Amino acid sequence: MIVDEEEFHHLNNPADGIKPIVKKYLGIPTHAEQAGNKIFFTDGDAKVEVTVVTNEIIRIRLAPHSVFLEEFSYAVPKLPQKAVKFTLVENEQEFRVSTSEVNCHIRKQDFFISFSDKNDHVTSADAAPMHWEENTQFGGYYVFCTKTCEPQESFFGLGDKATEFNLRGKRLKNWNTDAYSFGFNQDPLYRSIPFYISVSDNIAHGIFFDNTFKAHFDFGAEDSTKTSFWADGGELQYYYIHGPHMMDVVKNYHLLTGTHPMPPLWALGYHQCRWSYYPENKVRVIANGFRQNRIPCDGIYLDIDYMDGYRCFTWSPKYFPNPKKMIADLAANGFKTVVIIDPGIRVDDNYSVFKEGKEKKYFCRRCDDYFMEGHVWPGRCQFPDFTNPEVREWWGDLFDDLVETGVAGVWNDMNEPAVFGSGTFPDDVRHQYDGYRGSHRKAHNVYGMQMVRATYEGLRKQMKNKRPFTITRAGYSGVQRYSSVWTGDNVASWEHLKLGNIQLQRLSVSGISFCGTDIGGFSGEPDGELFTRWIQMGTFSPFMRAHSAGDTKEREPWSFGEPFTSINRKFIELRYRLIPYLYSAFWEHHRYGFPILRPVVMQEQEVASNHFRQDEFTYGDKILICPVLEPGQKSRKVYLPKGTWYDFWNLETIEGGREITVPTPLDQLPIFVKAGSVIPEYPVMQYTGEKEIEEVKLNIYYSDYEVNSFLFEDYGETFAYEQDIYLEKKFVVKGDADKLAIKQTMEGLYTPRYEGYHIKLNGLPFKPTKIIADGKEIPTINSNPDKTYEFKFSKNFKQIEIFK
Ligand code: GLC
Repeated sequence: MIVDEEEFHHLNNPADGIKPIVKKYLGIPTHAEQAGNKIFFTDGDAKVEVTVVTNEIIRIRLAPHSVFLEEFSYAVPKLPQKAVKFTLVENEQEFRVSTSEVNCHIRKQDFFISFSDKNDHVTSADAAPMHWEENTQFGGYYVFCTKTCEPQESFFGLGDKATEFNLRGKRLKNWNTDAYSFGFNQDPLYRSIPFYISVSDNIAHGIFFDNTFKAHFDFGAEDSTKTSFWADGGELQYYYIHGPHMMDVVKNYHLLTGTHPMPPLWALGYHQCRWSYYPENKVRVIANGFRQNRIPCDGIYLDIDYMDGYRCFTWSPKYFPNPKKMIADLAANGFKTVVIIDPGIRVDDNYSVFKEGKEKKYFCRRCDDYFMEGHVWPGRCQFPDFTNPEVREWWGDLFDDLVETGVAGVWNDMNEPAVFGSGTFPDDVRHQYDGYRGSHRKAHNVYGMQMVRATYEGLRKQMKNKRPFTITRAGYSGVQRYSSVWTGDNVASWEHLKLGNIQLQRLSVSGISFCGTDIGGFSGEPDGELFTRWIQMGTFSPFMRAHSAGDTKEREPWSFGEPFTSINRKFIELRYRLIPYLYSAFWEHHRYGFPILRPVVMQEQEVASNHFRQDEFTYGDKILICPVLEPGQKSRKVYLPKGTWYDFWNLETIEGGREITVPTPLDQLPIFVKAGSVIPEYPVMQYTGEKEIEEVKLNIYYSDYEVNSFLFEDYGETFAYEQDIYLEKKFVVKGDADKLAIKQTMEGLYTPRYEGYHIKLNGLPFKPTKIIADGKEIPTINSNPDKTYEFKFSKNFKQIEIFK
C-alpha cells in the first residue's frame, strides 16, 4: 500500500496512536528452551528465565519484551557454582522444572508460576501472572508479582521493620530512611532487606526479591488472600528458597548473600558510646570510670565532635590535639577506639579530601551534571559515589592515617544517605553502579552498603592481617559481609525496648546476625530500671553498645547509682563470661549460616501459637532468654520450647513445650539453658585479652538424651581461620540414671595456650562416686551445696564418664 505523506502524518498523530499505559500481564507460555541451568519460557513477547541455582533455590526473572538486564547484583556476588541435576517435563497443563527438592511449575493456561516440594505439596503459587507497567518518566517498568496468601500463612524477615515479628497483614516498603526517634509501625527505616520467610502448613520457604529500587511488600494487607511484592523499577527477579524448615531457608539465604566474617574478639565485649565524648580528657575520664568501677569494657566511640569542623578523616586540634597518644593510652588500658565517619564531605577547597574527590570526579552528580550538594553535619557537602569501584578504593585508602593513629574500628552513619531538609538525594542523581549505571532510584538502597564495603575493604587492607570492626546504619541484603549494624536512633522508652527485641530477632533471620540496639535508647531519658533492663537484654545482643544523644544526661553503666550499678556490672560480667559461647555461635553463623539469635518460631514452627511469640529467643542454640520488657515487673510468662531446660539461676529443671511464670527481680533476667549443653566460660576480665586464659570452664548440664555442643577457638584477631588455623570442638553429652558421658572431638590446626578445663557438672540426678577421664580416675571432685560438682582435666580429653 502506498501512503501519501499527509495520510502518514495523520496515522502517526500521537493522540491517536498511543495506547494508555496499563499494567501488562504475561500471556500464555508457548514453549520452553533450555540453556545449561537456565530454562527460558516466552509468551511470544515477554520472556521468563528460570535458573536452577541449587536443589533448594530457583531463581525467576522476567523480561517484558524479551531483553533481560545484564546480570549484576550487589547482594549475590556469585551464584553457587555446583552443577545441579534437574529435569524439564512438559505435559498438557504445564512445564515443570524439578530438582531433588523442589518443582517449579509453569502453568500453560495462564503463565502462573508455582513451587511444590518433593511430596507435591504446593508451597508458593502465583495468584496472577507476573506483570509490569511502563514508566514513561524514567524508562523501564514498575514490576509486580502476586502470590496467594493462605489463611494460616505467617511471614517473617525484611530486616529492621519496627512492627510485630509476624508480618502477616502488613504492607511495608524498602527505602533506606534516616528515621530519628522512629515510632512503632513507622516504615521504612534504615535498611532494605527484600527477603521474607513464609511458614504455612509447617513448611517454610523464602522469597528474596533482589531488586534495589524502592520495593513494596504486602502480606495479605490489601487482600487477605494475596501476598505481593513489587518495585518502582529494575527487574522482576526473585529467588524461591525452599525449607522445609525456617532454618533451612535462612541458611540458604546466607548461601546467596554471605555471612559476617569472624569479628575481632574485642568487638564482642561491651562498648560505650555517646554523642559525643569530648574533649580528650572526657574520653579518658570515661575510660577510667570503667576501670575504677570494675565494669568490663572493650570499645569506646568518638562521635562527630572529634573531627575538625565535622570534616571526615580529620581531628579537632582543639579537642584532640594528640589523638595518637590518647589512643595509645586507651589501648594500654584495654580500650579499642572506634570513630564515626559519615559520607558527607564538606565543600571546602582547603580540605584535602574534598579537593582530591573533586579533582578525581568522585562525587555524585545530578542528571544535568551539577554536583549533588546537600547539608549534613559539616554544612554544605558533596558525597562520594560509593557504587564506583575506583571511589571505593580511594575511600578505603583514606583510612590509612586513622589506622596509623591507632583507630581499631569505624562507624559509618548517615549513609541512607541522609540529607538535612530533603531527607535524601533526589531521584535524578547518577551513580556509576559498578559499570551498570543508574539513577539514585536504583542506587539509593545500596549506597550505605557500598560505603561500608569501601570502609571495610580499606581497613582490611590497611590493618594487614587484622580483622577490622565496622558498624553501619544503612544497608542492603549482603551488607553482613562487611559490617555489623545497629538499629539507629531509638528512644529511651519501654516500647522501644520491646521493639528492639523484635528488631534484633528480625535482623537475625534476615541475614544480619551481628546487630544491636542503642542500649538505654538514643533520645530521651531512661530511668535506672529501664537502663538496667536494657543492659540485660543487651548482654544477649550479638552487638552490645550503649549510646545516647547529646542533649541527654550522661549514661554510663554507673550513672544511675545503686542498685543499678552493681546489677549492670553483674550482667556485663556475664557477657564476658559467655564470650567463648558467643564467639562459637558466631562461627556457626559465619561458617554454616545459622543466625545468632533464633526466635522461638524458628525452633518450633509446627506450633501455631509460636508464630506470634516475639519476646523469647535463643542466644546461639543453647541459651533461651526472655527480656523483661515492662516497668516494675515482678514476674513474667516465658514459653520454653519442648525438651528439658535448666533455670540458669537456680538450676531447677523444667520440661518445656509450655509457658511458665518466672520471678523477675531487677537483678535477674529469665535465662534457661538446654539440658545436655556444654556452655564454655572465660574468667571475668575488664577487657578481652586482659589476662592470659589459664583454663576454660565447661558448664555441663545433665541430660538423659544426647546433645551436641560446639566450641570454636582461634587467635581472635587475624584471618588465619581462613587458612584453617582454628579449632572446632564438638562435645556430645548423654546421661542415664547412673552415668553421664561427655565425648570431645576436634577439628582444625589451632592450639590454644591454656592447658586444662575446669569442668562443672550441673543437674546430675546422682552423687558421683567415680569419674574416669580417658581411662584415668579423677582424684579430686569438689561437691558444692547446690549439688554441682567440679573437677579439672586436660583440654584434650576424648571421653569423660561420671558414675553413680
Ligand atoms: C545520627 C546517628 C547517631 C549519632 C548522631 C551524631 O543520629 O544515628 O547514632 O550519634 O547521628 O553523629
